[in-house]
Amino acid sequence: MQVIKSIDALREALKPLAKQGKTIGLVPTMGALHDGHGALIKASVKDCDVTVVSVFLNPIQFGKNEDLDKYPKRLEADAKLAESIGADFVFAPSVAEMYPDGDPLTLVRDETLEGMYCGAYRPGHFRGVLTVVSKLFLISGADHAYFGEKDYQQVFLIERMVRDLNFDIKIHRVKIVREASGLALSSRNEYLTDVERKQALSISEGLKLAKQAFEDGERRVSFLRDLVIKSILANRGQVQFVEVVNQKDLQKFAGALQPEDKVVILVAAFFGKTRLIDNIELN
Ligand code: PAF
Repeated sequence: MQVIKSIDALREALKPLAKQGKTIGLVPTMGALHDGHGALIKASVKDCDVTVVSVFLNPIQFGKNEDLDKYPKRLEADAKLAESIGADFVFAPSVAEMYPDGDPLTLVRDETLEGMYCGAYRPGHFRGVLTVVSKLFLISGADHAYFGEKDYQQVFLIERMVRDLNFDIKIHRVKIVREASGLALSSRNEYLTDVERKQALSISEGLKLAKQAFEDGERRVSFLRDLVIKSILANRGQVQFVEVVNQKDLQKFAGALQPEDKVVILVAAFFGKTRLIDNIELN
């Protein structure tokens, strides 16, 4: 496996492989890889001839007061993990390589959803994500790309961008990987103290309660929402949002759910200073 730091070198390495008809899979990450990323890499290795894992801590998707500076960085360990799963390349460009003129002035934006849910609390976040993901698609020329469903709004927006802008790439959603305790894997779990880590289980527990209630016939949106909110509040979490939304367009449901509704509950909550997100599809 090769670690490549320049855009030209990655293109030079991949072009002949693509010419030979090899399929290229891309796994975009910001590093600090865990088993959730491992599942994405595994899926790419299974489907594609060549797998590229990008490791780039993208500054333009972080707000001024967010955790860019303390985000864990460990390229060597990331490369080892990617190699052990069968990746062929790790693409780890510097900020100057990706943004030689400073913050880019051409940005990819989603007009409706960039200011909702996570976007409402992280202004500019999704345009940073869509812009860097577009760049990674264009740089790699990948045929397939893999994203985790923990970032549900993110993968939804990437799928929509690919349709809207006719990117020639197939997006694959990979299910959330959870610890045995139920906690969704995230690089940010490392920030949690032992006590906060236990308290944070209230997110997945609340989501499970809501799913069970839905399966038992509960259809009131406010009731399902409250189950999650109460679980988090009872464990000293601070709820940023809990929303019951349509899987098809991510618009909020209100009142009572109808049998044909495809539902997902999206959650963001703080435990101490750590912001965690999670979700569950109800059907
Ligand atoms: O999900 C992430 O790790 C990032 O948002 C992504 C998709 C790698 C873009 O920087």
